Amino acid sequence: MKLREWMLALASVGAVSAVAAAQDLKSPSADQYVPRLGDAMSAAQTRHQKLWLAGKAQNWELAAYELSQLKASLVEAAVLYAGIPASNVMTLEPSLQSMTDAINAKDGRKFTKALGELTEGCNACHRSMGRSFVVMKVPTDQQPFANQQFAPAGKP
Ligand code: HEC
Repeated sequence: MKLREWMLALASVGAVSAVAAAQDLKSPSADQYVPRLGDAMSAAQTRHQKLWLAGKAQNWELAAYELSQLKASLVEAAVLYAGIPASNVMTLEPSLQSMTDAINAKDGRKFTKALGELTEGCNACHRSMGRSFVVMKVPTDQQPFANQQFAPAGKP
């Protein structure tokens, strides 16, 4: 099943507790808050940028934390949006693994490369799901939303 593959993919890169938490979301009780997909993605956006800032500052402990938070947002998105094709998620897996390796090795160059790949993975899914206008990029600075491109495609 697609959703299951998604979770296994993410679990394999260490998001096990996030998967467990996300599975609870599948059958929310009446008083449980369930974020919408766009909200889970907004959280992913924040964490993507914080991950970048932490890595740039060589704060590897914080980077590891933001990476696990980011994975949790992605798992949440998968649970809430079962129509997401597993292949879209699988393409993210190698870059999440590279990111984990870079953080463990405290390697700034590998980190930068992994973030570029991860960001391309975000965009690949957006393109394949009719959201090609949601373009993520490697942040240029610390401003909010510095990891998103707002100019139309083809313009700087
Ligand atoms: C498996 C598919 C998939 C992946 C992977 C994915 N997204 Fe998304 N993303 C979507 C879909 C679908 C939407 C549209 C949601 C909607 O319209 O409610 C979206 C929307 C967004 C939005 C717009 C939310 C808003 O309210 O403005 C942002 C920002 C975003 N994604 C960030 C990211 C980031 C950052 C990553 C990578 C770390 C990522 N996404 C990875 C499928 C994906």
